[in-house]
Amino acid sequence: MSSTETQTQAEKLVKELNNQTENLSIEIDVSKRVKGGFNASHVDALPKLAREYLERHGVDLSNGYPEKPQSEQIPLYVDDALKIRNTPQEYIPRGKNADREKKALFSKVKEVKHLTKYIGTELVGVQLADLNEQELDELALLIAERVVVFFRDQDLAPARQLEIGQFFGNPEIHPNNFRVPGLPGTTVIWTQLFKRNGHKTSFKNARSATGIWHSDLPHELQPPGPTILAQNSLPSVGGDTAWSSGYAAYDKLSPAFQKFLEGKYAVQRSMHTYLDRNDPLNGGKQITREQPIVRTHPVTGWKSLYVNRDWTVSIVGLEPEESRTILNYLFDVYEKNLDIQVRFRWQPTTPGTSTVAIWDNRVSQHTAVWDYDVEEDRHGVRVSALAEVPFFDPESKSQREALGLDN
Ligand SMILES: [Fe+2]
Repeated sequence: MSSTETQTQAEKLVKELNNQTENLSIEIDVSKRVKGGFNASHVDALPKLAREYLERHGVDLSNGYPEKPQSEQIPLYVDDALKIRNTPQEYIPRGKNADREKKALFSKVKEVKHLTKYIGTELVGVQLADLNEQELDELALLIAERVVVFFRDQDLAPARQLEIGQFFGNPEIHPNNFRVPGLPGTTVIWTQLFKRNGHKTSFKNARSATGIWHSDLPHELQPPGPTILAQNSLPSVGGDTAWSSGYAAYDKLSPAFQKFLEGKYAVQRSMHTYLDRNDPLNGGKQITREQPIVRTHPVTGWKSLYVNRDWTVSIVGLEPEESRTILNYLFDVYEKNLDIQVRFRWQPTTPGTSTVAIWDNRVSQHTAVWDYDVEEDRHGVRVSALAEVPFFDPESKSQREALGLDN
């Protein structure tokens, strides 16, 4: 056989194979891909304090814990996942018309303790669950100004936590994540569960997952503002969380660089992956969305830098190398300036209660410190209140400009 004949035969074969694969239809059984519903096996693994806390607040654990959406409700394809929240929802910017001095809230509090100059305040001697709408409105302003606010020794029912989240915005109902049974809008943050689902965190890779600086859910059409995390089981030492201020990160930049970034957009991606309908065998695909790099906070009116190492992919309109270099620099500004950060130790808290942090994801990044033994489990409930469609107002001021602080 001549080489030309061999070539022709090979070409024929390739053509035939191509024809066959073109008509190949792939059927995927959704229920087998993502297991939804309850998983009874985790209930017994719940830390004692977390279990008592949930039961005391009327959470039904009889079907299992935690709850996931039913398999058929979990989107398989990325376009379906995107469709879940792809039209704007009404949002009321709580705190916008609140008393700037916050007299109602502060009269209820024993002590207002600023943990650092630019970020983080602890409110001592007050129960979050007891705050009325006026006090919550003032709290929304305090969170917007101080970026993160802490409360210890809280007796906060997950249902009341969700209610407060509803006051702050539209609680995010995750299509594919664990929630407190019967409470869509809550997310369970539980180390043991994380490990049981195959995530291996060791001393050597402790920076993976939530150990990387990030802001939550920036791929959403309306990413979260106030986010409430109530931790009701904590390691005796370790498991801290650190936050960094986006207002201050913006203020660290030179005026010329600030101008360059204003009006530009970055591509943000989701943590969860779904399949590409047109290329389902090519692995998981994230939801992506373009968001302004500098955004204006609707309550304070201050500008903030809105990019993070975990979820920001690229800057729209720049060459890949330019984008990478600039983004890495911006991530560093957030991560390396200790004067714009607060590191919070969740302990001590009275056993049987929660330590609560409420941070504004629009104007901050955070990172979890994975330095504790999983045997000393960490368990909490998060409610993320989705806020406005991010925007940049060219007339808005930076925090330092608005407060008359020196550069
Ligand atoms: Fe997070």
